Amino acid sequence: MNHNLAEMEAQVLREINEASTDDELQRVRIKYLGRKGEISALLKQIGNLPPEERPEFGAAVNALRAKVTQRIAERKAELETQALEESLRRDTIDVSLPGELFEIGGLHPLTKSLREITSILSSMGFTVYESREAETDEMNFVKLNIPQGHPARDMQETFYLSDTTLLRTHTSPGQIRGMLALEGKLPVRFIVPGRVYRRDQTDASHHPVFFQVEGLAIDVDITFKHLRGVISTLMSRFFGQDVTVRLRPSYFPFTEPSCEVDISCVFCKGQGCSVCSNSGFLEVAGAGMVHPQVLINGGYDPEQVSGFAFGFGLDRLAMLKYGIDDIRLLYGNDKRFLSQFRGL
Ligand code: DAH
Repeated sequence: MNHNLAEMEAQVLREINEASTDDELQRVRIKYLGRKGEISALLKQIGNLPPEERPEFGAAVNALRAKVTQRIAERKAELETQALEESLRRDTIDVSLPGELFEIGGLHPLTKSLREITSILSSMGFTVYESREAETDEMNFVKLNIPQGHPARDMQETFYLSDTTLLRTHTSPGQIRGMLALEGKLPVRFIVPGRVYRRDQTDASHHPVFFQVEGLAIDVDITFKHLRGVISTLMSRFFGQDVTVRLRPSYFPFTEPSCEVDISCVFCKGQGCSVCSNSGFLEVAGAGMVHPQVLINGGYDPEQVSGFAFGFGLDRLAMLKYGIDDIRLLYGNDKRFLSQFRGL
């Protein structure tokens, strides 16, 4: 019997050593140690032996089982190490290869421009008031001194949502909403940036959606000089010190007096070129002293306070700053265009 056990041991150990995968090793384990395995069968035979043979045989079979169990565990570890080494050899990383580059996004030129303008104006005490894009006819026109039938409406043909609501044609209604929100408190000093909508034709300088940055300042003794100072500071910090500002008399129903804001042409430095139609100047905003009726509509007393307002075309500013010659590029989502502003 013991001779047979020794033979079996030699046989099992050989099979374990020959197993070259975990599956093969499992098969060997089941063959000998499984419920119907050969070593398990030997253990069951113990009971059939004459009592005096049982202890010795039992001890021998148990020793065999322990040895085989241990050897299988060792072999399993060997196979795992081998597999790991092999995969390390196979999957070595070539550190001399260029890495996989992933694209880093950038900010849209309109976003960049707006952030810069916001930062400049906030350094002068302006906060940001986000008004709404769906407006009432009342706020968009009437409260700004543009009643039904006023010719100023013709220049702002727009998208009506109902008889009384529309997509705002300018950020100016934000002046009224901002004032009402402040409930008469002073000073008033905020900007209203955002999208505006007009049923304009679409061409290199017109788009049915564009951006404006409205500004409003109200306090005791605010004068036209404050308006000029804020606008000149904003323009020279946004475009550079050599840009000059020209205020040209104009008309807006919600300001009195009103002006257009021109800057010296950033391309020809005022010499005259095709971009500025040889005038040396570019129009960038409308502005003026807040009309007394508009102050009243916002809950302020024109006898006590005065204020100035301005409305910049953000697209225009971004186009001039970054040398973009077609407004449609700003809304086309063409990566070839947008990627040029990465990191600028
Ligand atoms: N809302 C005017 C427009 O869209 C621009 C404007 C002009 C805004 C004069 C103002 C202002 O605040 O004072 O054409």
